[in-house]
Amino acid sequence: MEEKLELESKSILAEQLEQLKKIFPEVFCDGKIDFDKLKLVLGEQIYKESTYQDKERFGITWIGKADCYRVIQNTKEATLRPCREESINFDETQNVFIEGENLEVLKILQRSYSGKVKMIYIDPPYNTGKEFIYPDKYKDNIDTYLEYTKQIDERGNKFSTNPESDGRYHSKWLSMMYPRLYLAKSLLKDDGVIFISIDDHEQHRLRMICDEIFGEDNFVADIIRKTKSTTNDNVTGINIQHENCLVYAKNKSLLTLIGEKKTFENYKNPDNDPKGAWVSDNPSARTGSTFPIENPYTKTIDLPPENAFWRFSYKSYQEHVKSGKIKFLESVLVGQRGFIFKRYASEVKSDNHLVPTLFATENCYMNQAATKHINEIFPNVKVFDYTKPINFILKLIEYSTNKNDLILDFFSGSSTTAHAVMKLNAEDGGNRKYIMVQIPETCIENSESFKAGYKTIADIGKERIRRAAKKIKEEYPSYNGDFGFKVFKLDSSNITNFEGNKVTDNESYTEQLEFSIQNIKNDRSDYDILYQFMLRLGFTLTENIKIKSFCNNTKKVFSIDLFSSDTNNITSSEDTNNSSNAKISTTFICLEKFITEELIDEIEKHNPDKVVFLDIGFQNNDALKNNARHSFKNHIFNNKNKSIEFLVF
Ligand SMILES: C[S@@+](CC[C@H](N)C(=O)[O-])C[C@H]1O[C@@H](n2cnc3c(N)ncnc32)[C@H](O)[C@@H]1O
Repeated sequence: MEEKLELESKSILAEQLEQLKKIFPEVFCDGKIDFDKLKLVLGEQIYKESTYQDKERFGITWIGKADCYRVIQNTKEATLRPCREESINFDETQNVFIEGENLEVLKILQRSYSGKVKMIYIDPPYNTGKEFIYPDKYKDNIDTYLEYTKQIDERGNKFSTNPESDGRYHSKWLSMMYPRLYLAKSLLKDDGVIFISIDDHEQHRLRMICDEIFGEDNFVADIIRKTKSTTNDNVTGINIQHENCLVYAKNKSLLTLIGEKKTFENYKNPDNDPKGAWVSDNPSARTGSTFPIENPYTKTIDLPPENAFWRFSYKSYQEHVKSGKIKFLESVLVGQRGFIFKRYASEVKSDNHLVPTLFATENCYMNQAATKHINEIFPNVKVFDYTKPINFILKLIEYSTNKNDLILDFFSGSSTTAHAVMKLNAEDGGNRKYIMVQIPETCIENSESFKAGYKTIADIGKERIRRAAKKIKEEYPSYNGDFGFKVFKLDSSNITNFEGNKVTDNESYTEQLEFSIQNIKNDRSDYDILYQFMLRLGFTLTENIKIKSFCNNTKKVFSIDLFSSDTNNITSSEDTNNSSNAKISTTFICLEKFITEELIDEIEKHNPDKVVFLDIGFQNNDALKNNARHSFKNHIFNNKNKSIEFLVF
């Protein structure tokens, strides 16, 4: 099969239509929905219930909500360009730092990371009026971003904050959050979970849009974090000393959060009970039965406390006495119960506690702790004001992920989440991976961070990872996990004609001609193009890429193997230590600008499952292209189990 490589970001709408088609194939006619038929299929009753004849409806709406869907659906191509110089251990690491605007980045990640992220933590701007809120443009968002990054170099004005005096103050914030959460949801695994830090400015509105996006049944909890002990800045006389962290599941019935490990230290066995160590349990409960219990040694009588009952029936009581679970005391002090009701360690159903929604009300999770931690990493410079306490995020990750899971933070700021992932991995020997996304928001010129050499918050985030990695390595010398990270930067597509021929009046005809022939931008490297193709083909940013030489080392081809595993349908070579992982396909990406017969023959002999060529590599030689097409057809013929895909751009 030959096809042109689709260069647009994966369309969420197309995906949803596909799903609808699976459920109601009969309502599609020529690929379009027949709404009258849909009404019939749903049944008049359901349809009537779901229409609002009097225009009243429950839900949240704001000025610009409709544009959110346009923003989501605009799939104009942008790309992520690898930046080896700023990375650590680029070729091996499974961690990723993306410098860029998160809406565009989330769109780009759809094809490769859909359903792969176990946990998302975000700490978005709280809409206090002081932070900048990215002004999404559904027609040309990537151009807005490029304009924005240009300002960084020119040290011009940064994009505006969202002041309370703005008439659309809440609307702007909601319009910023809605599409990002919508796209984030599709990256989550089915048993995945998102944690969103927020405070009173927008907490209630955020909850309403999350109810809409994730479904109110998937609301899990609102975790309270104590932010500070005292305040002197509130005129109303109330000390607001907490913020919230909303928790939503992709599918609540599949989510399991695992709390702290139970310790069995207080379980003892002083009476050599054959059932093992025990602690004294409370024998009363809100429901149960009431009867007097007489101590056979002291003849004292116990009844359940007022408004309570024994948690066992009389019959079970007799069995407990016989088995020794109820043990009578030989002497009883005044006010003391005459018996012990034992809870054996072996009876404890789970090794872990539940996660308390108030776990972060302890002082060690306050803002003060965050400041202390970041000061340890950047001594003597106040680099960033809004950092979260590392242990708070670490606990959220610990409660919600397994040791190999992928964690995403697309408002990553100073990269506390990456720091927390590395620290937790070092503590429990894990191999969790992260993706951080941070816009290169400029550091204000007279700020301490700018004076210390950091132009943008993204620079601070990357430097924090480098320093935190070094510190953790020193603290855990025996742990030799992944401390590297690969940097990518958001940019316009590498391919010009994809953006349309943007010929301005001043451009000469010759330039225009070159423009359409040389459709790869001059300043883009093979690796830039490679990653753009990889993302379009659904590969992750951390695949193991091999370079194969052909034609006596005069030509090269990139080769990527995909492996299957029990846990994921498709995983990359990082999981090859899992014995159930078998290689399922090999893709060759050939970016040569002069393709020859010899090269095609040699590639074919390697038996790849998919081959990608650059169209310009055929140099307008249709005969050569047809030959290639023909060779790969033969290839399918000779390998009945294979279906070769031959993609040309
Ligand atoms: C509250 S801070 C996050 C702090 C982070 N949790 C930490 O501990 O350092 C929010 C961050 O989101 C970034 N941000 C805001 N809008 C963004 C966008 N559209 N794309 C990417 N990052 C964005 C801001 O630059 C800011 O650094």
